[in-house]
Amino acid sequence: MQTSILAFRGRRYLWAALALTAMCITAYWLDDPQEPPNGGTLLGYSLGTLGALMIAWLTWFGVRKRKYKSGSGTVQGWLSAHVYLGLSLLIIVALHTGFQFGSNVHTLAFVLMTAVIASGLFGVFIYMRYPERLSENRGGASRFELLDQLEDIDRRSRRVAAKLPEPFQDIVTSGVQRTELGTTLWQRLRNQDRSQVQLPDASATVSNKGQEAAMDWLAEQQSRADAESAATIAELSALLRNKRKLLRQIREDLRLQAGLEIWLYVHVPLTAALLMALLAHIVTVFLYW
Ligand code: HEM
Ligand code: HEM
Repeated sequence: MQTSILAFRGRRYLWAALALTAMCITAYWLDDPQEPPNGGTLLGYSLGTLGALMIAWLTWFGVRKRKYKSGSGTVQGWLSAHVYLGLSLLIIVALHTGFQFGSNVHTLAFVLMTAVIASGLFGVFIYMRYPERLSENRGGASRFELLDQLEDIDRRSRRVAAKLPEPFQDIVTSGVQRTELGTTLWQRLRNQDRSQVQLPDASATVSNKGQEAAMDWLAEQQSRADAESAATIAELSALLRNKRKLLRQIREDLRLQAGLEIWLYVHVPLTAALLMALLAHIVTVFLYW
C-alpha cells in the first residue's frame, strides 16, 4: 500500500507538484518588483496566499481521511497528493518570503511548517518499512489470532497445573494475571516487559520478565520432584516457553503498531501550532505592514 501511495497513478501528483513548483520558480525569476523580493510584493502576496491555501487543504486531509464515502477521489490519492504538494510548499513559501528570514512570528510559521513537513517525511518512511515488518513478525496470523493462541496456552497451563499441588496452580494463575503487554503507547513503543509473578515462597511479587522467574521456579521444583510429577512440570515449562515466544511476538507487533501511530502525535500538534502562527503572521502583516 505504501509504495503505491508514492507511485499512485503513475506518480501524477509528483508531476503536478513539480509543475506547480516550476511555475512558481519561473514567476519568481521573471518578476521584477522594483524592490528586493519579499512577501509584500504582488508576487509575494500571491505566493503567500497559494501557500496558505495549500496548508488549509493539507490540514483538511485529517477530515477527509475519516470520511469513507466521498465523491472526491480515494484516500490513497489524497495522501499521495498530500505528500507531494506538502513537500512543494517548502519551495513555494521560501519564494514567498524572498528568502528573508528573521526572528519574528513570520519565520516561526516557516520553521513550524518545515517541522510539519519533516515529521511527514518521517511518517512516510515509517509507513514504507513497518507494515512489511508487521506482517513478517505476525507470520501470517492476525493480532487477534495471536491473542487467541495466548489464551489457549494459558488455558492449557491451568489444566496441566491442576494435576500438580496448589503452589503450581497459584504460580500459573498469578503469572497469567500479572502478564503485561503495555498499556500506554509509550510503554508499547519501548517494548518493556513489566510482567510480575507471585512465587509461592516469596512475600511479594517479583519481575517475571520473559516468564523467567516462573520458569526458574519450575526448573527448581522439577529437579526435586519424582518422575511422574517431573514429567508434568516439564510439560508446564514447555507451555511457558511457548508463551514466552508468543509474548515476544505480540510485544513486537504492538511496538510496530505504536511506531506507526506515534509520529502522528508530532505531525498533528505541529500542524495546529503552524495554523496559529500562520494566523498571527497574516493578521500582523495586514495590521502593521
Ligand atoms: C495569505 C497568506 C499570506 C500573506 C498575505 C502573507 C503576507 C506576507 C507579507 C506581506 C510579508 C512581508 C513582510 C516581511 O517581509 O516581513 C510576508 C513575509 C513572510 N511570510 Fe508571509 N504571507 C502569507 C502566507 C505565508 C505562509 C503560508 C508562510 C509560512 C508558513 C509565510 C511566511 C513568511 C515569512 C517567513 C516571511 C518573511 C518574514 C521576514 O521578512 O522576516 N507567509 N508574508
Ligand atoms: C504543511 C504541510 C502539512 C500539513 C499542514 C499536514 C497536515 C496533516 C494532517 C492534519 C494530517 C491528518 C492527520 C490525522 O488527522 O490523523 C496529515 C496526515 C498525513 N501527513 Fe501531513 N501535513 C503536511 C505535510 C506533509 C508532508 C510533506 C508529508 C510527507 C512527506 C506528510 C505526510 C502525512 C501522512 C503520511 C499522513 C497520513 C497519516 C495517516 O492517515 O495515517 N504530510 N497531515
